[in-house]
Amino acid sequence: MRESTITNLPGYDSATLDQEFARLERQVDEERVMLRTDEAREAFRVHWLGRKQGKLKAISDAWVKGAPSDRKGAVGQRFNELKTKIEAAIVVAQINPLLARMSPEEKAVFTGSAQQMLAEKLKEQQQAKKLDITLPGTSQRTGVEHPLVKTMAEIVSVFQRMGYSVGLGPEVESDFYNFESLNFPPNHPARDTQDTLVVGDQEKKPLRERLLMRTHTSPVQIRSMLEQDPPLRLIIPGKVHRNDAADATHSPVFHQVEGLCVDTNITFSDLKGTLDNAMKAFFGSAVKTRFFPSFFPFTEPSADVQISCIFCGGKGCRKCKQSGWIELLGCGMVDPNVFGAVNQRRIELGREPVYDTRRISGFAFGMGVDRITMMKYGISDIGLLYSGDMRFLEQFA
Ligand code: PHE
Repeated sequence: MRESTITNLPGYDSATLDQEFARLERQVDEERVMLRTDEAREAFRVHWLGRKQGKLKAISDAWVKGAPSDRKGAVGQRFNELKTKIEAAIVVAQINPLLARMSPEEKAVFTGSAQQMLAEKLKEQQQAKKLDITLPGTSQRTGVEHPLVKTMAEIVSVFQRMGYSVGLGPEVESDFYNFESLNFPPNHPARDTQDTLVVGDQEKKPLRERLLMRTHTSPVQIRSMLEQDPPLRLIIPGKVHRNDAADATHSPVFHQVEGLCVDTNITFSDLKGTLDNAMKAFFGSAVKTRFFPSFFPFTEPSADVQISCIFCGGKGCRKCKQSGWIELLGCGMVDPNVFGAVNQRRIELGREPVYDTRRISGFAFGMGVDRITMMKYGISDIGLLYSGDMRFLEQFA
């Protein structure tokens, strides 16, 4: 085999490329006719296609990789054509001795059967295109909304009818949005109730910039207030994560719908009226609501909301543990510290700190979509919602 080293191309214009690649193709043609033994064929293969010292590797390094970016395509195309030619030469060299050993009859059968195979393949392809309406059809299973998505959309639409717009935010959140700006200072015990997965290797970053899987949809309150000036009415559906061991009522991944309303003269009565109205719209007009004092770092005052049991109408049953009430929501008036954090961040971002607590106020609420879905459909194990079991999911079609 002729030894020749690959030197740099004199130029990358089409004429030079054509000339250089034609020269190589002539070499291949000269060599391919001499591939009469297995050894010769193997030597040819190593010479051209060898991984480390093959000629194509040298060409790739010197010509293709070194090509100016606007000529890469032109060199690459010719390179691929050359490679195909070499690979074809090897296949032909493999078949040739077989053909040589065959009698004329055998040869005819061989080429005949090769042709037949090809013809059959073509026929198959053509038949596949024809439609036989007498065959039983392959039925397409219709997809349905996952029950969680369905419930979430229903809750969202109740609030949309009350003039709320939909807000969304990322599931991978920074400590600042998930905790700090929501009045959970570093090391505050309230953080313990919302332990979560954190992104690794972030010790060098300041705490507020470290990333974690959001534990609630409340960070979207902050993101929205940074982007929009009041008044604001938002309904925020989404997936959240917590370090909770999975059991019949807990899942490390679950869903919330959050609400935020900010304007002048927003009071606790507005919060009560809004939620009472929404619960009646969602569960039916007979449903009653009641509010109990509670605590969230980002609302003050805070409340837990119960609705009268939708199963027994309040008389007491197993579902409501004989109390007649079911706890469903957390809510409260937006804590001034939250507005403070928003204003502070707006200043850092060069935006006006318009959330002036002397002028505006707001309320927020959050509810668990999984619990509501389980109640609505009588699902006893939250795990079923995440199992991906078609037999379970099909029931919601
Ligand atoms: N983010 C709270 C939680 O996940 C719920 C909530 C939202 C409470 C908004 C009050 C206001 O527990």
